[in-house]
Amino acid sequence: MYSLIRPLLFRLSAETAHNVSLKALSAAHRLGLSGLLAARPEPCPVEVMGIRFPNPVGLAAGLDKDARHIDALAALGFGFIEVGTVTPRPQPGNPGPRLFRLPAAEAIINRMGFNNRGVDALVAAVTASHYDGVLGINIGKNKDTPAEQAVDDYLYCLRKVYPLASYVTVNLSSPNTPGLRDLQFGEPLRLLLQALKAAQLALAEEHGRYVPLAVKIAPDMVDEDVRDVARTFVETGIDAVIATNTTISREAVAGLLHAEEAGGLSGAPVREAATRVVRILADELAGRLPIIGVGGIASAEAAAEKVEAGAALLQVYTGFIYRGPALIRDAVRGASTVLRATRGG
Ligand code: FNR
Repeated sequence: MYSLIRPLLFRLSAETAHNVSLKALSAAHRLGLSGLLAARPEPCPVEVMGIRFPNPVGLAAGLDKDARHIDALAALGFGFIEVGTVTPRPQPGNPGPRLFRLPAAEAIINRMGFNNRGVDALVAAVTASHYDGVLGINIGKNKDTPAEQAVDDYLYCLRKVYPLASYVTVNLSSPNTPGLRDLQFGEPLRLLLQALKAAQLALAEEHGRYVPLAVKIAPDMVDEDVRDVARTFVETGIDAVIATNTTISREAVAGLLHAEEAGGLSGAPVREAATRVVRILADELAGRLPIIGVGGIASAEAAAEKVEAGAALLQVYTGFIYRGPALIRDAVRGASTVLRATRGG
């Protein structure tokens, strides 16, 4: 089905296609038709961060930034959905064009810049949804918040989304908010995570429910930096790590149309870099906290690769744009083959 629709969508600008697809998907869902778009994946329950997931393949952040399409996306069979990145105040993001397809490389470059309607609108949208599956809410900072006050933006969002989230993702790795990725290293990272951890424990007390905190990192880190941040996550009591966000490298797409556009590159060209980070994390963490693997998953084989590298859960974005909802079933199949083998089942 998607192979029929895709050529039409790819004739539109990337951002128009994105908006049209999500609106159409939600409309189809309201008519009870979303089940026709793809066969749902086989069940493959896993327990990670103390949460039970019906299958290990989730939707990565950034596709449904304002949480307006959760019900329709969930109906496609995702094991979990991550919405956001959301910021305290609404912001328009960067001027367009800001989203580019590189079909020859099955890749996307985006410099959206956290366009979103703000955390209050996201909370309202989640409250209005009927979804009762696993929901991650990904939080960030407003562009015009100075770096010294970044922690206040994260704390503000954490408090607002806490009661609604299954887990909360702290996004430190978007290349499209100036200075954001500096928060991934050294003392700024430690201070930010300590503040968030203290807030999380207070909120757990207040709400009588512990909501895990995940941190999302970039693929553009040397091995020793990956090991350093992993140690900081353990020391500060972070519950999971999401690896990875988009890359600023253009090595894998050199010479292609749009390759020199500014922003983050995703899809097939980031697959290897993301798997490398998952592997280093798995080695350094030795099971102390779970890894959510994301980056260039577009097949059963690519899903199996991330699980073999040490991921307990997976997320997809760009592969879903190129392959459509059938990818969810394929990725679950790829992941479950490895999971069954390692469980000895
Ligand atoms: C993203 N991604 C992203 N990540 C995040 O944490 N917050 C966000 O707001 C966004 N926004 C966003 C927009 C667009 C258009 C794309 C393509 C990606 C990154 C995404 O969640 C994922 O980490 C990377 O794209 C790598 O996975 P894929 O796309 O190769 O499967």
